[in-house]
Amino acid sequence: MSHSDSIQSHLKEARKFPPAPEFAQAAHCGSMADYEALYQRSIDDPESFWAEIAEQFHWFRKWDQVLDWQRPNARWFVGGQTNIAYNCLDRQIENGRGDHPAIVFEGEPGDQRTLTFRELRDEVVRFAGALKQLGVRKGDRVTVYMPMVPELAITVLACAWIGAPHSVIFGGFSVQAILDRVEDAESEIVITADGGYRRGGVVALKTHVDDAAARTDRIRKIVVLQRCNNEVTMQAGRDHWWHDVVADAPTDTPAERCDAEDMLYLLYTSGSTGKPKGIVHTTGGYMVYTATTARYVFDLKPDDVYWCTADIGWVTGHSYVVYGILANGVTTLMYEGAPNHPDWDRFWDICARHRVTKFYTAPTAIRAFMREGREHVDKHDLSSLKLLGSVGEPINPEAWMWYHEVVGRGRCPIVDTWWQTETGGIMITPLPGATPTKPGSATRPFFGIDPAILNMEGVEQGPNAGGLLCVRRPWPGMLRGIYRDPDRFVKQYWSAIDGVYFAGDSSRRDEDGYFWIMGRVDDVIKVSGHRLGTMEIESALVSHPLVAEAAVVGIPHEIKGNAIAAFVTLKAGVEPAAGLRGELSKHVADALGSVARPEQIRLTQALPKTRSGKIMRRLLREIATSGTVTGDTTTLEDFSVVARLAEEQDKAV
Ligand code: WTA
Repeated sequence: MSHSDSIQSHLKEARKFPPAPEFAQAAHCGSMADYEALYQRSIDDPESFWAEIAEQFHWFRKWDQVLDWQRPNARWFVGGQTNIAYNCLDRQIENGRGDHPAIVFEGEPGDQRTLTFRELRDEVVRFAGALKQLGVRKGDRVTVYMPMVPELAITVLACAWIGAPHSVIFGGFSVQAILDRVEDAESEIVITADGGYRRGGVVALKTHVDDAAARTDRIRKIVVLQRCNNEVTMQAGRDHWWHDVVADAPTDTPAERCDAEDMLYLLYTSGSTGKPKGIVHTTGGYMVYTATTARYVFDLKPDDVYWCTADIGWVTGHSYVVYGILANGVTTLMYEGAPNHPDWDRFWDICARHRVTKFYTAPTAIRAFMREGREHVDKHDLSSLKLLGSVGEPINPEAWMWYHEVVGRGRCPIVDTWWQTETGGIMITPLPGATPTKPGSATRPFFGIDPAILNMEGVEQGPNAGGLLCVRRPWPGMLRGIYRDPDRFVKQYWSAIDGVYFAGDSSRRDEDGYFWIMGRVDDVIKVSGHRLGTMEIESALVSHPLVAEAAVVGIPHEIKGNAIAAFVTLKAGVEPAAGLRGELSKHVADALGSVARPEQIRLTQALPKTRSGKIMRRLLREIATSGTVTGDTTTLEDFSVVARLAEEQDKAV
């Protein structure tokens, strides 16, 4: 990586929005002075800072040691025993929240369901009992592949209840993704549904699981929720209906006493090598961190109706649809379907009808709404909204301003939250009652977070100089490793700069100490906020019988942030037939899910490589975006390849 020398930021944004006094007055953190004081304490004495917060949770056994830091391995609340699902459910009921709505659900067809904390608890305990009857034991990995319905949250919490780590796979992913994850996790049980509703159609989830199960003998049990009543094949002995297993389940399964460092879940995410990595999160630190960030960043209050539009298949859904929100006893809204079904006002219609107070979404969605026009927003009463959040990729100042003016009607603070699957929770963010915001900046670090902008040599950069965004100290929500691959954990996150955490983003910090995230500097592309590895897409392309070689780059896209451009060389002697590009696109979508579908496929004679054989993606990126190459080409093995690519580009236009 030789990026840091060339990282330059072109974003200049001078507007500043201080919190409204009414908001600040009622907020958990209501001034910059309070923020600075708490932040300083969290850095000077992190152990007492986090211990004091952790005291407020339920522990079966208190910890002996707050932090054991053997770089790069951290253990938090060592010796403590707790259960995160118990904290999300029983502890809330004990606090008098039993009859308060925990989940408000709306399906895409318009069906609605509300579960109080007590009702949710009963369903969780029942399904936990069912899982046990199916043979699931503490420590067993449970694969979950479901639509965004309450049973998805119930499954996740039931797994936590019995100490069986869940591995949730986004319902938009395809067969290969299920297969890879089931194999890597050595998971013998899959919880799925017949289907889920999406844009008026049914996504046949069970069929995908069947196809995966046909290609491995690992899967021994499949539990199927009846959601869409679409036709499914049930294999006797292996497949069970959800309604049957819960009907026979005991209702008194106690919450497992989990060690603070027991694995809570695995979540697979893309990195710069071909195989997705199983990110490991554990119980105690994750619970304390997600709940605390949720409380401060969304300024959660007992009567909030909080809605995060992320799918539970992503980390945002884990931390800020389920755990962080329920652990605060707050209502979390779940919506099953597409933002534009039946029309582009669906989100605002939901906000208005359910009187949503806090709303958390992704820049790609905001840009899509911008394109469709403000009339879809304007026709709804959004007076209940108090706070807006953004996550997943840098939010451009234009989208920020639109969000602020059109959705927030100029009243709502915006929290632009930077974090990652690996970090477990929000790391850099405004606190809405304290931090004056600047459109496009994620602003300042959360309590206990010690970020720095470093160059490749590990030297801290001065104001406004771009560099690698690193974190120097451990925090409770941090990943504990890559599943079954400790070497890769060290190599991937702790080696770019010796001993500090680095997971792929560049950033600068301005003269006020505000962070401006500039994007990924590794081989990860953020498409509509979804994280995709170039290697995975390339492997999918190369698995097509006609393809010899492929290279994939991200190109700027107005709505998606980035889109995928694929350069493909065909096997010798293959003449490209009409429709081959479409076929290759579909091939990728079939393998990885439609989020990975390339926007452009360019058939080319050869790919530009260095003398050591490495594909020069930087040149491809230039060709894909500008049609020419102006950067350094001295390491290129054969310059004529670039000339040819540029020519092919002319023909393509
Ligand atoms: C990007 C999502 C700029 C970043 C929670 C990071 C952001 C990657 C922001 C992690 C933000 C997330 N501003 N970029 N507010 N939030 N990112 O693992 O590149 O799906 O490394 O986690 O998203 O994506 P992941």
